[in-house]
Amino acid sequence: MGVRTIRAAVPLAAVSVMLGVMVQSCAKPAPPQLGKQSVQDVVAAMTKEEKVNLVVGLGMTMEGLPPDMQGPAVGQTNTSVPGAAGATFAIPRLGIPSIVVADGPAGLRIQPTREGDTSRTYYATAFPIATLLASTWDTPLVEQVGQAMGNEVKEYGVAVILGPALDTHRNPLGGRNYEYFSEDPLISGRMAAAIVKGVQSQGVGTSVKHFVANDHEFDRDTINVKVSERALREIYLRAFEIAIREGRPWTVMSSYNKLNGTYTSENQALLTGVLRNDWKYDGLVMTDWFGGRDAVAQMKAGNELLMPGTVAQQKTLTAALDSGALPESVLDRNVAVVLNLVQRSPTFQQYVHSNTPDLKAHAQLARSAGAEGMVLLRNQQALPLKPGAKLALFGNTSYSMITGGTGSGDVNEAYSVSLVEGLTAAGLGVDETLAATYAAHIAEQEKVRPPTAAFMLPPPLPELDVPAGEVSRLSREADVALLTIGRRSGEFVDRKLEDDFLLTATEKALIQKVASAFHARQKKLVVVLNVGGVVETASWRDMPDAILVAWQAGQETGHAIADVLTGKTPPSGRLASTFPVRWEDVPSSAGWPGKVLEGPDPNARGVLSGDKAAEVEYSDDIWVGYRHFATKGVKTAYPFGFGLTYTQFRYTDLKLSNPEFAGELTASLTVTNTGKADGREVVQLYLSAPGKAAPKPAIELRGFAKTKLLKPGESETVTFTLASRDLTSFDEASSAWVAEAGTYTVKIGASSEDIRLTGSFTKPAEEKVETVTAFVGARK
Ligand code: BGC
Repeated sequence: MGVRTIRAAVPLAAVSVMLGVMVQSCAKPAPPQLGKQSVQDVVAAMTKEEKVNLVVGLGMTMEGLPPDMQGPAVGQTNTSVPGAAGATFAIPRLGIPSIVVADGPAGLRIQPTREGDTSRTYYATAFPIATLLASTWDTPLVEQVGQAMGNEVKEYGVAVILGPALDTHRNPLGGRNYEYFSEDPLISGRMAAAIVKGVQSQGVGTSVKHFVANDHEFDRDTINVKVSERALREIYLRAFEIAIREGRPWTVMSSYNKLNGTYTSENQALLTGVLRNDWKYDGLVMTDWFGGRDAVAQMKAGNELLMPGTVAQQKTLTAALDSGALPESVLDRNVAVVLNLVQRSPTFQQYVHSNTPDLKAHAQLARSAGAEGMVLLRNQQALPLKPGAKLALFGNTSYSMITGGTGSGDVNEAYSVSLVEGLTAAGLGVDETLAATYAAHIAEQEKVRPPTAAFMLPPPLPELDVPAGEVSRLSREADVALLTIGRRSGEFVDRKLEDDFLLTATEKALIQKVASAFHARQKKLVVVLNVGGVVETASWRDMPDAILVAWQAGQETGHAIADVLTGKTPPSGRLASTFPVRWEDVPSSAGWPGKVLEGPDPNARGVLSGDKAAEVEYSDDIWVGYRHFATKGVKTAYPFGFGLTYTQFRYTDLKLSNPEFAGELTASLTVTNTGKADGREVVQLYLSAPGKAAPKPAIELRGFAKTKLLKPGESETVTFTLASRDLTSFDEASSAWVAEAGTYTVKIGASSEDIRLTGSFTKPAEEKVETVTAFVGARK
């Protein structure tokens, strides 16, 4: 896919040669050097111009950008890592190098080949998308993925990866849901924290993004998200709170949208009140690329770095400093934060990167993580496949896998494994005639497909309507039918209901045709969903014998699917977002994706924005995902937390450490594999609060654990610890997280709709567990 370039005005090599060189003069003492003298001393030695340059990124050169947004923003650029998204300003006289940041989140996004450099390539590993990683419910595994990703970041000379991304799966049609984890803040927060810890264990940084409420792409650059304080705190901010408190990311990226009337990047209550004061965050905040409008407000709000950086921002800040509209003390504070970040980077530590990360080992990890996050929705004795079975493979994506989404979250991987390759390597047979028919169909359709601009979503290839005679031949000659349904989604555009969330008429007809032909011969049909987000299943799910949500598992997708289908890796993924019966059953669908307001948008910026002002009311409030379905009793197609295995598990002996809550409580139980195959179980702890003080969700996920691979008959004891915060909900009136008095029920389940054990405890008195300082939830 396309690559954004940062062009050099001053080559980095020249800049780095100058690094560390003291500018000596007889008259003046040598200026302080970053790392040798204190950050305060270095800031004090900087000119106003240098300070402004340091809080404005070096800029970006991109076709279609208006002139004042083109790079170089500050008269200097950094070409050390082509394809990286941005870099900071270098001040060699003070020992300050330029550091490079590059996308995420599914792997490092850099240009894989370099002009004039035929000696080697710079491919990165395409790991599974975040939605799949969340579906593993396995934080240690996700941390390992983070470690591998971080190693590539470091070895390719990048200081910060722009991920993980953890906006909310508020609606299945969110275009970037594939980059996000879940509808639930605990899963999102813990998964993001695991990535952050993993990446940062390598000595490079993360950027937890997009803070906050960039839950759709519709008019994302200017849309005003109107949301209550309670919903913000309990759902949208909560995911970030967990990720930031547990993971301590080096940086946070503010989002594009407005939040209750103010751009998040200009929102002091959000960036200083919530983030710094309430959560004690001490890292850096950068804007999303070209995000927000008012550079001075951004500086004051606590958004220290403006990315990618523009000439206009540099001019605005300089003028504001001169007029006094921007106090120099604010700029100094922000410059110090940028310098702290620079000091942490491998670049500052003069680490010599190898450009040779262990891509082979990382591919293995991508494969196993991929298999662990695939979710088996249905299985009528169709899976695992018998060794050596011959398959009739239907569906375009069987032959042209979708390994991830489009936009900045796309990775430039060296290769990707198709399903045919995966199945063949696993010793399964594939009908060659059908494969040849699909190859010809795909080639033909690709020829007539209109070209897609770099970064953008290509239109889907129409599915082939395989003639009945051919399906009948295949039902005779093949042992099993396997049909993939593929969906690609990406940045800039939300998904559609028709022919995207809903299957196309051709897809449904094909499922039906293949199912009846194969069933007529007592043979099975397996459907594999190669998707980036939730699709409709209720209307067709009874036709196939098995349904596997394979998501998009990165470059090893074909191998990972084969591993699950054959049972080499038994399925153990669980849904981290609900599959509704109908799209309309999701409360945010009313009013999705927001409304265009009368008149032109005063904030519109042509190329990057719609030219209409828009707003979206989060009228679903806290009733997001299973919180809605479980409380209102609305039927789901497949509930949050659901996923089948090739075996069964029994839950016994739930023990609570105390009948009364006194600051902490543990719940433990035993899980036993009672079936005939190996498997891993995901145990979920939901809590029901008394719900007297305010409306509360019927259940809320407060803990989860994944067992090791258990053999038939084997058991494992699982223990959860509940802390005071787990009992709370946010009380707007007192600006506090309050645990109400009364009886709480612990519900241990295999999904949000499959509760196996319950226990209860009491909380004798109401408790204000944490009071917050900032107010960001006014509906304006
Ligand atoms: C995206 C960010 C990304 C940035 C840099 C923006 O368009 O929203 O997620 O990190 O570009 O590529």
